[in-house]
Amino acid sequence: MKPTVAPFPAARLRRTRASQAIRDLVRENTLTPADFIWPVFVRDGEGLEEPIASMPGVMRRSVDKIAEAAVEAQALGIPAICLFPYTDASLKTGDCAEAWNPDNLTNRAIRAIKDAAPDIAVMTDVALDPYNINGHDGYVVDGEIVNDATVEALVKMTLAQADAGADIIGPSDMMDGRIEAMRGALEKAAHQNVAILSYSAKYASGYYGPFRDAVGASGALKGDKKTYQMDPANSDEALRLVERDLMEGADMVMVKPGIAYLDICHRVKSAFGVPTFAYQVSGEYAMIQAAAQNGWIDGEKVMMESLMAFKRAGCNGILTYSAPAAARLLNG
Ligand code: PBG
Repeated sequence: MKPTVAPFPAARLRRTRASQAIRDLVRENTLTPADFIWPVFVRDGEGLEEPIASMPGVMRRSVDKIAEAAVEAQALGIPAICLFPYTDASLKTGDCAEAWNPDNLTNRAIRAIKDAAPDIAVMTDVALDPYNINGHDGYVVDGEIVNDATVEALVKMTLAQADAGADIIGPSDMMDGRIEAMRGALEKAAHQNVAILSYSAKYASGYYGPFRDAVGASGALKGDKKTYQMDPANSDEALRLVERDLMEGADMVMVKPGIAYLDICHRVKSAFGVPTFAYQVSGEYAMIQAAAQNGWIDGEKVMMESLMAFKRAGCNGILTYSAPAAARLLNG
């Protein structure tokens, strides 16, 4: 559909911007707390909320505090929380067995949220990096990330999370064949309603820096993730990955990072029309916070503008560390 514009002065495009009421009437996109998935960091201990230096306002919370955060999310109208564990270095091993320990931090946090705030959907991250001695999302053998053995481990991790009560599984590992393997295993284990939100188009990005601090993986990581995460130069490849994941049984797909990849969000939504999410990642959050702290930008304004941009690009929702702050603003 082509927009028609009458000649001036029949058309004065400023007319529909003349007052707040008219601007409200003609607004094309909306943002609500229901658009958010709130990523949170879980740590050991009790009663703890530990600030993360590179992510002002974000905390690593002990499981009891995660449950409180879930209650807060429920009150704010945020439908989902995504869990990331800060795993003690002593639990990181070559076989990453802590990843499918039914009592690991993530699985304990899932159960605590389900107890405290049963209406919140719990999403989990599936990748080996929090548990891997070398910080990679997959097993490393002779310096190579091995695909198929990693997928087997990821399936065990998925099943442990589903058993603990996860509603949405979020594979962030970028291995090939993982969605099909996970979907098959979930079906077999009578977890047919556990959804998969695949990190389908995940780029090898510099924007993940603060996150790797937050989960304690930056010191551990050897090398880079370029043999599994995408080249930022590519866009057709993102469509192939999304299509492949949908064919393998993904219910929803994600583009990550967010703001620098709005073109990908738009292409994915236009091409497939499936539930599409963007991850506004740690580096994006840190950049807004840092500039705001210096008084160089209005932090709240830029946060809301960036979140709206995802909706405009076609996303159904956004994973964002700003979820509670944005929800509070939206709720007035
Ligand atoms: C790990 C994972 C990462 C993020 C989410 N899951 C980091 C990475 O791939 O190195 C990044 C999230 C963020 O930066 O906020 N599989």
